[in-house]
Amino acid sequence: MATCIVGRRLHFNAAHRLHNPARSDEWNRETFGPCNNPNYHGHNYELEVLVAGEIDPDTGYVLDVGILKRIVDERVLQVLDHRNLNLDVAWFRDRIPSAENIARFCWEALVDAMPAGRLTLIRLWETPRNYVEYQGG
Ligand code: NI
Repeated sequence: MATCIVGRRLHFNAAHRLHNPARSDEWNRETFGPCNNPNYHGHNYELEVLVAGEIDPDTGYVLDVGILKRIVDERVLQVLDHRNLNLDVAWFRDRIPSAENIARFCWEALVDAMPAGRLTLIRLWETPRNYVEYQGG
């Protein structure tokens, strides 16, 4: 059967620092450059959540995007928006809050939450030019 993909774009901002405490300060500075600055820095993130499925003949929807918005608000934005990811978000206590890992966080927060369709892609823009895509197993 044909698949249709619906998507929602959301915005949040957050602060982070890329730092691996298992490695030396010199390694961290060389590896992460200014992203290793001790006092953190912020990004305006754009998050795209894509859900794939069949079109329900009763509604014409794969998934009501209003419901999708509410799920992402509750499970992702309320956790990440206006936060210091290193200090405020438990999931990042043992993980470096790179765009890759933030996208993975979003995937894990959302993958079991879709009432219809299935989560198919997380795309996270960290800057207007740089993005990552994550597809969990
Ligand atoms: Ni950064």
